[in-house]
Amino acid sequence: MARIATNKFLHKAKKSKNDEFYTILSDIERELRHYKKHFKNKVVFCNCDDPRVSNFFHYFSYNFEKLRTKKLITTCYKNQNMDLFSQHDTERAIYLEYEGDKKGNNVPDPEEIGIKQLKGDGDFRSKESIELLRQSDIVVTNPPFSLFREYVSQLMEYDKKFLIIGTWNVITYKEIFPLIKENKLWIGINSNRNFSGFIVPKHYPLDGSEARIDENGNRIVSSNNTCWFTNLDNAKRHEELILYKKFNPEEYPTYDNYDAIEVSKTNDIPIDYEGVMGVPITFMNKYNPEQFEVLGATQRGCHDEVPDTRKYDDYWEVKQNGQKTGSSGGKTNENANLAGNDGKKNYFINKEGMIIQSAYQRIFIRHKRL
Ligand SMILES: C[S@@+](CC[C@H](N)C(=O)[O-])C[C@H]1O[C@@H](n2cnc3c(N)ncnc32)[C@H](O)[C@@H]1O
Repeated sequence: MARIATNKFLHKAKKSKNDEFYTILSDIERELRHYKKHFKNKVVFCNCDDPRVSNFFHYFSYNFEKLRTKKLITTCYKNQNMDLFSQHDTERAIYLEYEGDKKGNNVPDPEEIGIKQLKGDGDFRSKESIELLRQSDIVVTNPPFSLFREYVSQLMEYDKKFLIIGTWNVITYKEIFPLIKENKLWIGINSNRNFSGFIVPKHYPLDGSEARIDENGNRIVSSNNTCWFTNLDNAKRHEELILYKKFNPEEYPTYDNYDAIEVSKTNDIPIDYEGVMGVPITFMNKYNPEQFEVLGATQRGCHDEVPDTRKYDDYWEVKQNGQKTGSSGGKTNENANLAGNDGKKNYFINKEGMIIQSAYQRIFIRHKRL
């Protein structure tokens, strides 16, 4: 019994550990500079942000006049449960409203910031928080990773504009991918290596992660798996992907069980192919909805409309030396393009021992103008 309780606690702690990644101001500035026009006369809501530590609050309060924002609302979550990693040591959850500089010094002075107590814990799903959500136009934050699906579904339910941070792999989540496909959510300007990292609490175990201390003494962990998600229009979304290759059946083989061609690099998308093409997920960073249509994706429950390109039990994962890893494609497919323990990429082989390249996750697309 005790062991079950401990395991549960540790599992929860592990989950919330990943939730305590704090965004660096320069990363916020690097993205937000592309959306200035969207904030004029708008109520901005940061609903996972302790104003004492949140750089989202910092950014919006110091840029309030420049962006000509109408109002800034920030709620701070007070986790009611004992939690190994929570930063929050306040007794009660609070929220804050800022309506701009009154003294004319262009700085948010304490008396200009209205701090109010919340009755509950400030959970973004709570009644109080939803009431503030209703009053706001654009939600901007880095929400808890473990609640990302719920977080996005709430934004959709209340039909809000948003600019939020998530991990790159949510793209193929079965709750998120359909939104991408229907152009209700897209990738922001910066992703992966364009992020400088995240600030982690002092007690965050660094075991092996790449970490550094910045000039303010903050512990920063690197991240190359993060990305902005938004439904605010941006220039990148209208950039034409310049293509130079023409289709030929030798270079672009067709899948066994689906009438689509395999394109292993986004830049190699043939300019003249009218049918369906399987491209790497990194394509989403170049996706212009005027140029391409997104039709589906392999794996992770997205195959209701487009089937997997191979049957799971028909292939196995092998190391570079040909040794089987013991997994069939079905179990390991989604990690197929990750390096194995030895740092080298694993392969997938079929029954005949032939290497199958198309075990990688793919997004299916079609040219719009052909
Ligand atoms: C990834 S951190 C980011 C914090 C801050 N938004 C930032 O970018 O620096 C997610 C934050 O959400 C808080 N949080 C966790 N569960 C929450 C919930 N149910 N409702 C609101 N906030 C929550 C966490 O305590 C944490 O501070």
